[in-house]
Formats: sequence, C-alpha cells, structure tokens
Amino acid sequence: MTETYSPKTLEHFQNPLNGLTGDERFDFDGRGIWGDPGSDDQLVVYLVVELDSEIIQDCRWQLFGFKEAKAGLSVMSELVKGKALADAFKLSAYEIIKRLGGFPDHQIEAITMCVKALKLAINNFYADNGLEHKTSNDFALKICKCMDVTDFQIEAAVKNGADTFEKLQAATKVSTGCGTCAEKVQTLQKSYLAKLG
Ligand code: FES
Repeated sequence: MTETYSPKTLEHFQNPLNGLTGDERFDFDGRGIWGDPGSDDQLVVYLVVELDSEIIQDCRWQLFGFKEAKAGLSVMSELVKGKALADAFKLSAYEIIKRLGGFPDHQIEAITMCVKALKLAINNFYADNGLEHKTSNDFALKICKCMDVTDFQIEAAVKNGADTFEKLQAATKVSTGCGTCAEKVQTLQKSYLAKLG
C-alpha cells in the first residue's frame, strides 16, 4: 500500500507539464470535461488531432479544484502525444501511476478521472468529425478481470451500502477469483467511502 507521494509525483505537482491557466485560450479539436458542471471540481482535457492520421499532436488540460489530479494530468498529457486516438483511448490509470512511480492508494480516483476526461475528449473529437461510429461509451475501467467488475460497479455497490470488503464481494463478486485485484479493489472502495463522508 502506498500512502505518500513519490518523488516523481511531487516533481509533477511542482512543475506540471501542459497545463493551461484559467483564462488561457487554446484552439482544440476535441475537449473532454469530467466532473459535475455545478461543482468546483472539474478536469478539462484538450486535444489537437491530425484528422487524417488521427494522431494526437498536442494535449493540454485545465483543473478546477481537485488538485490531486494535477500530477496525473501532467503525465497523461505527455503520454498521449504522438499516439493514435484508438491507442490513447486504451490508456489505463495504472500506466499513469507507473510513470509517476506510484500514487497514494486513497487518491487513485484522481488518476481514473484523468483517463475518463481523456476518453470524453476523444469521443467528442470523433463526434465532431463525423466519426460517431468510433465513439465508445465504455468509460468504465475493469478492475477485476476474473469476475469482470468495473470501477463503476464498485462505486455503485459502495453507494448502496457495501462498506466492507466482504459486503462488496457479496454485492459484485469482485475479487472472488484469483484474488490479485484485492488490494486495488480495497483502495478504490476506500476512496469511494471517503467521498460519501
Ligand atoms: S482479477 Fe479479480 S479475482 Fe482475479
């Protein structure tokens, strides 16, 4: 279990890459906003994409509230540059965490939100360019491969009262196969419980 920020993460918090200030204008081809429009916490990801090749030329971001996401957005914006949209769509939170040299377990949701804002930006690019058939609603991240359980299902079960690992397993069957996902699952559960207060 990781509870503290890695040196790499601290570096990205202090000197984030590709961030835009609140009033900075930026011409983009695809934009993804993750977060409740009425809330103070929002992540915005902007993509510049070469239409024919569907290669990401540039990736920028803005953050309102939710400061924990800053390092994830910084690394993610570097990781997707030069990638085809289809490959960028497959980017996982764990790849970002690996690049950061780890991330506090109770804040992993900050990283999954970065990935979701990216996926929205990609979908919006497709939709705006007559490529709706390429969009995907699969925003859920598969956490347990054996039992096919996603982060959305875990969050829903926690909201419905699964406040212990055992209750979560009973509700979703998560982590009842090989068990290698147990740590990840408990970490996510903890962060969803913290959100409920
Ligand atoms: S990956 Fe979850 S039980 Fe195997």
